[in-house]
Amino acid sequence: MNILLLGSGGREHALAWKIAQSPKIEKLFIAPGNAGTCQVGENVPLKADDFEGIRRFVLDNDINMVVVGPEDPLVKGIYDFFCDDEDLKQVPVIGPSKAGAQLEGSKDFAKGFMQRHGIPTAAYRTFDGSCVDDGLAFLETLQPPYVLKADGLCAGKGVLILPTLEEAKKELREMLDGMFGQASARVVVEEFLSGIECSVFVLTDGKHYKILPEAKDYKRIGEGDTGLNTGGMGSVSPVPFADKTWMQKVEDRIIRPTVEGLSTEGLDYKGFIFFGLINCSGEPKVIEYNCRMGDPETETVMLRLKSDLVDLLEGVAQGDLSNRQMEFDERAAVCVMLVSGGYPGHYEKGKVIRLFDSGQPQNLNANRQDVQLFHAGTAFDAEGRVVTAGGRVIAVSSYGKDKAEALAKSFAVANDIQFEGKYFRGDIGADL
Ligand code: AMP
Ligand code: GLY
Repeated sequence: MNILLLGSGGREHALAWKIAQSPKIEKLFIAPGNAGTCQVGENVPLKADDFEGIRRFVLDNDINMVVVGPEDPLVKGIYDFFCDDEDLKQVPVIGPSKAGAQLEGSKDFAKGFMQRHGIPTAAYRTFDGSCVDDGLAFLETLQPPYVLKADGLCAGKGVLILPTLEEAKKELREMLDGMFGQASARVVVEEFLSGIECSVFVLTDGKHYKILPEAKDYKRIGEGDTGLNTGGMGSVSPVPFADKTWMQKVEDRIIRPTVEGLSTEGLDYKGFIFFGLINCSGEPKVIEYNCRMGDPETETVMLRLKSDLVDLLEGVAQGDLSNRQMEFDERAAVCVMLVSGGYPGHYEKGKVIRLFDSGQPQNLNANRQDVQLFHAGTAFDAEGRVVTAGGRVIAVSSYGKDKAEALAKSFAVANDIQFEGKYFRGDIGADL
């Protein structure tokens, strides 16, 4: 079958790498992709939210399935766009409907959903511009630190954690006053939860689900979890505290009620659900939902998925996911993200990326035992060289018999890759 995958990051390169290994795949296209995805498929110069362009491409190229990497097209309703079009409605879109994508697209919706279905999460209230004083009074009832979340999508910047009541009140006023535009017209104010975070992923056809390997990501730019938040600086799978007992709690209290809740509320959902969880003294709670896979978690999770991803996605589309096999590699997988100097603040693009082994230049894309490079922000320059084109540049993912062995491989290659300004965190996995 022919698949069109939407997106351009490390997550999409990892998904493309896995999809391309399927015996069921004839042609894989990635829109718009990056300098890595074109090793495993064909890049198409279309933005992931150019619905009309995607429509034409799907019809002209006999596409049998569209797999959506990022949240943006889902929250904007690409699933519904396909369902509502006579010519497109036979083509399954892997990802939820616009209504289902509210799990990520609206924090207030997600909190209300969890409350309706008894899913453990932080206590909260939502405020808009008409009840600023109530919001300020609610803050006074909470203990520091204070958590404020813009209701809508803010490219990962919409959550503020403030140490003092004064700062929290000031930021709440500013958020409701349009700090993030329409996205912060409503703000969720919630209880701060302390614990270690863990990302759990499921694939669902709307009725059945399969749980993928869990992973932990590292969000801060600095070692020891310091400095600004980033898109993610690395990931590790498995996560030691996510043992059988803990995962059973996650399934019983969180995953099953979520999938059942989507179904009873009539929210069409055929795709990935990302549960951002926190371990509060052994009890899992939901910090957030995302309606897609995580990045950089996908760069380790796909390494550990042994089964045919296309077969599983077919199960999602056909509603018979329960008949499909999902097996995992018992080895550990880790990912170390190489980023541009200055990221997540200002950074320069267009730096040539090279790989040296024992001082000798190597082909960046050559196979290395147990190490897989997933490109994120990369492109080709006019001379055909691979250059940096984003903040997060390349994910160096590795297998190992354990985390330590996998990390040693990723760090070795991370050191051998060179581009001006390269930075990575040397403490990925060190806290586990
Ligand atoms: P979110 O966009 O909801 O994932 O929030 C971004 C990050 O803020 C999360 O990954 C957590 O590290 C942190 N965070 C969000 N909500 C809470 C909370 N209620 N308690 C503690 N940390 C939180
Ligand atoms: N790694 C977190 C995310 O993808 O949102």
